[in-house]
Amino acid sequence: MAPLGDIRHRFPGLADGWARFDGPAGTQVLDASIEAMADWQRSGSNANAHGAFPAAHACDALEEQVTATVRGLLGASSGGVVFGPSTTANVMALTRAIGRALGPGDEVVCTTLDHDSNVTPWVLAAEDAGATVRMADFDGTTGRLATESVADLLGPSTRWVAVTGASNVIGTMPDLPAIADAAHAVGARVVVDGVHRTPHVAVDVGALGCDVYTTSSYKWYGPHAGAMWMADDLLADLPVYNVRPTPSTGGARWQYGTASYESLAGIEAAARFLLDTGMDAIEDHGRDLLRRLLVGLHDLSGVRVMASTGPEDVADRAPTLQFLVEGRAPVEVAERLAAARVAVWDGHNYAVEAMAPLGLDPEAGAVRAGVSIYTTEEDVDRLLEAVASC
Ligand SMILES: Cc1ncc(COP(=O)(O)O)c(C=O)c1O
Repeated sequence: MAPLGDIRHRFPGLADGWARFDGPAGTQVLDASIEAMADWQRSGSNANAHGAFPAAHACDALEEQVTATVRGLLGASSGGVVFGPSTTANVMALTRAIGRALGPGDEVVCTTLDHDSNVTPWVLAAEDAGATVRMADFDGTTGRLATESVADLLGPSTRWVAVTGASNVIGTMPDLPAIADAAHAVGARVVVDGVHRTPHVAVDVGALGCDVYTTSSYKWYGPHAGAMWMADDLLADLPVYNVRPTPSTGGARWQYGTASYESLAGIEAAARFLLDTGMDAIEDHGRDLLRRLLVGLHDLSGVRVMASTGPEDVADRAPTLQFLVEGRAPVEVAERLAAARVAVWDGHNYAVEAMAPLGLDPEAGAVRAGVSIYTTEEDVDRLLEAVASC
């Protein structure tokens, strides 16, 4: 196991002794992030941006600071960051603006591997504009989205490609640089949903080749908020869908209303924690525990792991999986695990399009378990024991 050190005490929410595999839906919050939010609100700096007094200056400084830190987390040497209440809200704002420039004949490519927040906003914008959304299919047996599956849909009419950085149900990570190259070759721009990727591997938006990258800090030990990185030209030139007094530059140009400054303070602390801990160590930790989980689940009779060829199938996968237990509905399994104080999710987890390729019921879905930075080998063993006695 990679040396992450003893970090569990940094998460007050773990004090009740539950084994938490619900991180893909929202992680426990880091102590420093909790304190940063409370400190901000106690500080007197809680004001608004662009004023003529020190507290307003502090708001400007905080936004600048957290923009720089999030850029650092995403490996971005340029571009800006739009902060909002959630990634879904950020993508809605983006597609609402993009939709005004779309028209009949224009095409957007989405994928069946994606969370619905990177599908339906595009479908709604396309519907409004008379444009078309084409869906690239992933392979339900391997869980992989082949680059060709996207590339085959690209053409001179493609304006945007919206693709996940990692599936929030089965963890698989598409080859984003190859997909971005193919999209750029036809003049399309690329939006990557990085919500499930960011907590698990180092991100470099330049190397990935994306034009927009979304992430949500409550998936990486911070507050409930979304942060959307955008390339400079899009940030500055794409016509926004916003109210008139909105700032004309930077991420604020895209933001709806006043930023949640307390959230920005919490995001700053959480992002710094990831950077200080080191994404390579976090990735190793996740891979080791994913392997342990897979070995155990594949060994249990009556348990089927979705889109997994075996315990060694851990490359290019976030440490998140879905499984079924023969004879039990996913919700029943989740309830039985809860009785053993093991938290997992059941259902489709908003990966609406992914259920059919995986052979799952569209509503009941499967049981989902995800490894977080604070997950231990003991947690994994507790989960396996609880599943075995289901
Ligand atoms: C992969 C993925 N994308 C997008 C979202 C939506 O994020 P938010 O809740 O911030 O809108 C989620 C949330 O679970 C997710 O897992």
